Amino acid sequence: MNDETIYSHEDTLRMLDSFFRDEGEWWDGFYADKEKGIPFFRDCPDENLVECFSGGNIAPGRVLELGCGGGRNAVYMAQQGCKVDAVDISQTAVDWGMERKAAHQVEVNFTCGNIFDLELTPGSYDLIYDSGCFHHIYPHRRASYLELLDRALTPGGYFGLTCFAAGSMGAEITDWEVYRQRRMRGGLGFTEEQLKTFFGNYENIQFRRMRQTEQSENLFGEAFLWTALFRKR
Ligand SMILES: C[S@@+](CC[C@H](N)C(=O)[O-])C[C@H]1O[C@@H](n2cnc3c(N)ncnc32)[C@H](O)[C@@H]1O
Repeated sequence: MNDETIYSHEDTLRMLDSFFRDEGEWWDGFYADKEKGIPFFRDCPDENLVECFSGGNIAPGRVLELGCGGGRNAVYMAQQGCKVDAVDISQTAVDWGMERKAAHQVEVNFTCGNIFDLELTPGSYDLIYDSGCFHHIYPHRRASYLELLDRALTPGGYFGLTCFAAGSMGAEITDWEVYRQRRMRGGLGFTEEQLKTFFGNYENIQFRRMRQTEQSENLFGEAFLWTALFRKR
């Protein structure tokens, strides 16, 4: 019973987490069949991420990838010369990432865990990258997410994001409705204004729709996603 006593803000957040499904278990089921034709299961990096590196916006450095899934972007960043820590709540996803890093013969430090349980050294990353994780984060954890960015990024460090664009993809429900329904219905869609407000303390370097890519390009790109690059001041 003592487990259920609320002493701190973190205890309140943990109580709210408990209203929802076990994320690790759910995502393990999602990744169980790697052949099911999910676009982001293909072993190719995000087009915006490639543009950032090839266009010189981002130089190789220390990277943290949040919700790395099967590791396609983590492997790409390692190939660019980055020192990559990549975390995902699904062990099945992390195992896939390990297979890919071996196949590509690169070094990536994969960890299975919740991004909010990470023990982070302050100012230790030049880039934090999130492709498709943020729209699965429960609204009560959004402030924790921002704290994570603030703590882990070095001054002048970058935060790269791709997430559902409201009106094109993602649940069109308010944050309050998430708690009435006790589910996120596959992830939340965000407006440009919402995202620029959430990350308003950061300098916005780029904000656009992801470019829809062709299968032949070997790049991931879906036009129903926003892609954004922010910089810590
Ligand atoms: C849409 S998938 C994207 C995967 C990968 N970034 C990609 O684009 O290939 C979202 C990922 O976020 C992970 N995830 C969701 N909530 C998480 C959390 N709280 N901590 C760590 N990973 C999480 C899921 O397990 C899943 O792999």
